[in-house]
Amino acid sequence: MKRLTISFISFLTALFGWGQTTAIPVYLDETKPIEQRVEDALARMTLEEKVAMCHAQSKFSSAGVPRLGIPENWMSDGPHGIRPEVLWDEWDQAGWTNDSCTAFPALTCLAATWNPEMAALYGNAIGEEARYRNKNVLLGPGVNIYRTPLNGRNFEYMGEDPYLAARMVVPYVQGVQSNGVAACVKHFALNNQEQYRQQVNVEVSDRALHEIYLPAFKAAVTEGKAWAIMGSYNMYKGQHCCHNQYLLKDILRDLWHFDGVVISDWGGVHNTQEAIYNGLDMEFGTWTNNKDWGDSNAYNAYYLANPFLRLIREGKVKEDALDKKVRNILRLAFRTTMNSKRPFGSFATPEHAAIGLRIAQEGIVLLKNSPLTPKKTDVVLPVDFNKTKKIAVIGENAIKIMIIGGGSSSLKSKYEISPLEGIKQHVGDRAEVVFARGYVSDQLNKKGEIKHDGMFINDAIDARSRDELLSEAVATAKNADLVIFVGGLNKYNGQDCEGSDRKGLELPYEQDKVIAALAKANKNLAVVIISGNATAMPWVNDVPAIVQTWYNGTEAGNALGAMLTGEVNPSGKLPFSFPVKLEDVGAHAWGDYPGAKANGGIHERYNEDIFVGYRWFEHRKIKPLFAFGHGLSYTSFAYGKAHISAPSLSEGETLTVSLPVRNTGTRTGKEVVQLYIGDEQSSVVRPIKELKKFLKIELQPNETQEVSFTLSVEDLKFFDENAQQWTAEPGKFKAYIGSSSSDIRQTVGFELVKR
Ligand code: BGC
Repeated sequence: MKRLTISFISFLTALFGWGQTTAIPVYLDETKPIEQRVEDALARMTLEEKVAMCHAQSKFSSAGVPRLGIPENWMSDGPHGIRPEVLWDEWDQAGWTNDSCTAFPALTCLAATWNPEMAALYGNAIGEEARYRNKNVLLGPGVNIYRTPLNGRNFEYMGEDPYLAARMVVPYVQGVQSNGVAACVKHFALNNQEQYRQQVNVEVSDRALHEIYLPAFKAAVTEGKAWAIMGSYNMYKGQHCCHNQYLLKDILRDLWHFDGVVISDWGGVHNTQEAIYNGLDMEFGTWTNNKDWGDSNAYNAYYLANPFLRLIREGKVKEDALDKKVRNILRLAFRTTMNSKRPFGSFATPEHAAIGLRIAQEGIVLLKNSPLTPKKTDVVLPVDFNKTKKIAVIGENAIKIMIIGGGSSSLKSKYEISPLEGIKQHVGDRAEVVFARGYVSDQLNKKGEIKHDGMFINDAIDARSRDELLSEAVATAKNADLVIFVGGLNKYNGQDCEGSDRKGLELPYEQDKVIAALAKANKNLAVVIISGNATAMPWVNDVPAIVQTWYNGTEAGNALGAMLTGEVNPSGKLPFSFPVKLEDVGAHAWGDYPGAKANGGIHERYNEDIFVGYRWFEHRKIKPLFAFGHGLSYTSFAYGKAHISAPSLSEGETLTVSLPVRNTGTRTGKEVVQLYIGDEQSSVVRPIKELKKFLKIELQPNETQEVSFTLSVEDLKFFDENAQQWTAEPGKFKAYIGSSSSDIRQTVGFELVKR
């Protein structure tokens, strides 16, 4: 540190003759307000230097101003870990040997913890990894709302509910930025599918935009104070979102007062004029005009590169338009690379792996654990070692590498504990663990190997037929005391993967057939689904125990092993609803997904409007397979009578809803107490109820905790399209308190009045 300080000073001395008599230039003086430093730096820059800052110079970097000691910007994906280094101008990995990161659990898992403390730990740890790798912008988190279970990128996001996503994104952003690394919240906005992602023009009501699709972004900006935001590929109101006047200027800048940097998604810019005037600051990408792929000069041909420079030189665009962008980019530098107080970070440490493990353990969801006999305690999970001496683990996902694949969030991790390893580790010598593959994914290349993201995944190779695999699995299951099937989706194209959507809700590779056969072969069956999306479960009534888990990264298998064997009591809750069938989802009921060709483009009207996820199921009285907020524990919780501090509320006041929650079982456990609000008298149609508060608590057996939630008028509002603002109408409201959106234990009524 001392050496660094000395050399920095000598650098300044050489550069500006700064000594005892000359003052440090304002832009380098960290005691000066940032805005003053921005103006000072801006005034020293040439036109060319300014334009160079507004576009990429390599796949993940943009120019600084070496002459002034302003460093380059270096970005990295993504939401779940720091991506391996790629070549300057190609997507191939650079072949570093010291870039194997901690793979943190996917953001669906983080959302499933329903624990903002986990989001803070996550943000800080991934920020430390980014900082250590000298990245000053982390391309994440993603908070696009889960609208359809087919979206290939849902695993990178935080579920279907705007309030849950908002509460989780704020600590994540703050954690990242406490390391002097900008969180780049993505993809702003309405990027709810991969199919047609570059072309689809989303048509959505202002109400749905503000109530459903924007709140998490708004919280990230106004509360989390995010320093960067990424425009999305799709279109809204006929403009691409990377240069969208309504989203970037009217809402982001004017309404939310965002003072950070707007970064384009890679290759998401299509128009120089719009890129200049509609709020974009930096253009990143893969190619230009679809023709210069791989050409190392292509960066100069970017919309915000030479074409921009030319327009200014010709006097067709005022330099002021450029200065607006450069101010934002300089602010980024002062907050990150030029903040001498930022910590140094750390990378792939045991501490980070332990944080990933904790998050994964809190995010795994126990969907079902029904007694096998009339005796209530006769359940499959956790494993009862008194009667279990042989465990059959079946299913390809028990051995599959999951941190590779999925698109830009693909990682190279220091290690990855598979479910099979994790189960073996946690079972120890208490029982024998045997494995049968059960099914095989079908994406082998001609040589019989899988190459994904530059790496061979040889463990995926199995040349046996589906029938052979199935009969081996059934025989193995018959011979065991307990069967744990580990399946679900994977990170291949058309599953949980960027760039394409799933084709249907069903599990791939005929897994339903395998599960049905296993259920017949052995009644002691637990099915573990790994995915970032809801899947259909036609066998739901034939399987006594079902676990939903996620792409949990480095420590995935250990988290699962601990949960299955009971070392960890599950406490995750679903961040999105599971439909029985696709048509039960709003986006599919209307048939508007994935958009239709019209007027030379692809248009998609979000006809279900504000009724996304559980809002739709409840509005239409459709029973989900598993409801939003659902998740069981190995213990049980009793909710006592709810009290309300006052019968009515008016503007500026608050009221408190409180109730005792008791652990009535025999194990320590965590419960997420959820509070939803329903508007009983409204001039507009509103959801039956909407999540407005939640709290995760831990209770010992027999322990009781009084849980209190404070409500204000803010929690009662809807977005009034005529007035273009949030409004609450006087009348009756109901607070629903429960263990999930479909398991409401207490309700209390109150009124909003004008005093
Ligand atoms: C993705 C972004 C990602 C970027 C850089 C794009 O294709 O949509 O989420 O950050 O690539 O890898």
